[in-house]
Amino acid sequence: MKWNEQDKSIQFTFGNYISTVYISKEGALVPLLKAPEGIKILSIFDQNTAPLFGDEHLRPLSLPLGEEHKSWESINQIMQRAVRENLARDSILAGIGGGIVCDMVAFAASIYMRGCQLRLIPTTLLAMVDASLGGKTGINFMGYKNMVGTFYPASSIHICLNTLVTLPENEFQTGLAEVIKTAMIGDKELFQLLIKEKERIFQRDTDLMEEIVKRCILVKGKIVEEDFKEKGLRAYLNLGHTFGHALEAVADFKGWSHGQAVAWGMAKAMDLGVRLGLTDPGYAEQVKNLLRDYRFRITVDNLAPEEIITAMSKDKKKLKDKLRFILQKDLNKTFISETDLSLVKEIIN
Ligand code: GLY
Repeated sequence: MKWNEQDKSIQFTFGNYISTVYISKEGALVPLLKAPEGIKILSIFDQNTAPLFGDEHLRPLSLPLGEEHKSWESINQIMQRAVRENLARDSILAGIGGGIVCDMVAFAASIYMRGCQLRLIPTTLLAMVDASLGGKTGINFMGYKNMVGTFYPASSIHICLNTLVTLPENEFQTGLAEVIKTAMIGDKELFQLLIKEKERIFQRDTDLMEEIVKRCILVKGKIVEEDFKEKGLRAYLNLGHTFGHALEAVADFKGWSHGQAVAWGMAKAMDLGVRLGLTDPGYAEQVKNLLRDYRFRITVDNLAPEEIITAMSKDKKKLKDKLRFILQKDLNKTFISETDLSLVKEIIN
């Protein structure tokens, strides 16, 4: 990892790929849609980000919003457009928007002509701190999150923090779940910052958001540099996700944003750890209080534990018929546990 103070960038090495993240407070978006002389670029937006541009000559491709559109159909649209515009292997696919569009454009770039250039411009907090970094690409398939995908890091990621100002409240909150997760896994100071600076965070204070986004990128980037293909350590980044993905599947991706489901999942990971006698109860309570402070629901009425268990059993992170959970002993002390489903059932609510 290399931090360049001059152009506010951080360079990571993920496997054989170099990814450079540029962070700016007031960055202009339109120049990011331009390619170097002689190189073609296809810009792909979602329905939220397309209206931010509207420049006719950019002829943007705008994908519909929502998990249900994180699908082959959207990839098909990108591929058709890429072929019609004669994009070559040195052409750039640029994804501008939230985690869904970033994941899909990255997937498309990884398979178009066996891999073309990829530039990501994340405009949501979740995409800035998680989805756009580290090369996980994918689409949902048969009701399961990110079931089909590749590892293909963007060569450049451009974070313009000013896009956070207009982000809808629920989108901002969903990103905060990943921020909390990142602090729990790898940054004690960030955890304290989240406890102390709630009001400034809710106000989206730009200086503070710069600090937060940078810290999250450093934690995640370091983990992915060590374990690009998720053979071990990288799985820690899935804290709360086995529970969260199951809730999203049971709720059919309706009524729960990804971050809200993950926040619930992190609370359940705390409960499971305490039930197993492995998590410090005081820490578990601290995490649940923090999640409540950031307005997350940490229990759900009328939830059928069997449905959650069934959805979990089909989660792609299943390892040899055992269910794998990311749990914590304490702050920044994470481990992987293969746990008996009957115990898991007990703590689901
Ligand atoms: N979002 C988890 C990861 O990138 O590994």
